[in-house]
Amino acid sequence: MNTERKQVLAFRTLPPDQLARISALHEVTVADPSIPAQRAAFEEALPKAHGMIGSVFPIDAAMLARAPRLEVISSISVGVDNYPLPALDARGIVLCHTPGVLTETTADTLFGLVMACSRRLVDLAQLVREGGWKSNIGPDLFGWDVHGKTLGILGYGRIGQAVARRGALGFGMPVLYHARRPHELPELAGRARHAPLETVLAQSDIVVVTLPLSDETRGLMGERQFATMKQGAIFINGARGAIVDEAALLAALDSGHLRAAGLDVFATEPLPLDSPLRRHPKVTPLPHVGSGTHETRHAMAELATTNLLRALAGEEPVARYATGGA
Ligand code: DGY
Repeated sequence: MNTERKQVLAFRTLPPDQLARISALHEVTVADPSIPAQRAAFEEALPKAHGMIGSVFPIDAAMLARAPRLEVISSISVGVDNYPLPALDARGIVLCHTPGVLTETTADTLFGLVMACSRRLVDLAQLVREGGWKSNIGPDLFGWDVHGKTLGILGYGRIGQAVARRGALGFGMPVLYHARRPHELPELAGRARHAPLETVLAQSDIVVVTLPLSDETRGLMGERQFATMKQGAIFINGARGAIVDEAALLAALDSGHLRAAGLDVFATEPLPLDSPLRRHPKVTPLPHVGSGTHETRHAMAELATTNLLRALAGEEPVARYATGGA
């Protein structure tokens, strides 16, 4: 085991207990480059860093080139689309992430969006808040049932499967999913079926995206795919904004082809104030909080810290992301 004190650059604030775990063994600089006042400290720490831990801020190949000593990046996220995988691979830099600990929380958020869009929960809460509840609510404000509807899931990894369990076992929804290969889950036998993308889109009442962002999935949902969806269907994205052509989604909502969209992720985040998605009456927007509970965000930071410390000690991390050649 390597016990040398190394330099760690935390590019996002860490919970105090996790910062203390790292500081006990290594020298830590906390500098979030997305905060202008901390950018200089980040740039100063980068060339010395053996390890980096954080999330949200994209680390590109040019930045990596300014970090010649780097051994590990420990991301506090399951998604790794913010990192230059070929460059990491070429340098043998270990990339770690946080799968598993956020699965159920993220599926809860996605199902929350399903419920919010179908039952118009945000519109109705807004009505009450604004004093608009003056008589019985009529059909103009009714929602649509979720139970029994067909649930389409794009991507059937841990989160997709957790969404499927909620739909199939909790709401009696037949599930269609699109993935590279079928996954036989005993608890969903006879309730979830593997199908081509076109079939999932054409036959589902509610489509939920849980795919990772990759060259294969970037822009996957465009004009043709939205047109393939059922008239009056609901679209939910909790994966990455770049999987969706936002202009095509808006057109499908405006034409009345889609009933509603629940979006936790956007092509540009935070969502620009002039984005038409922000105040669109058919869109329920969330600020990328799929995993955003106290418990889960702490569990993610804890796992990321363990990954970092193990990698810096020359041990195998709990969750290393295979960058390609790794
Ligand atoms: C993840 O873990 O990838 C979440 O989307 C947060 O970035």
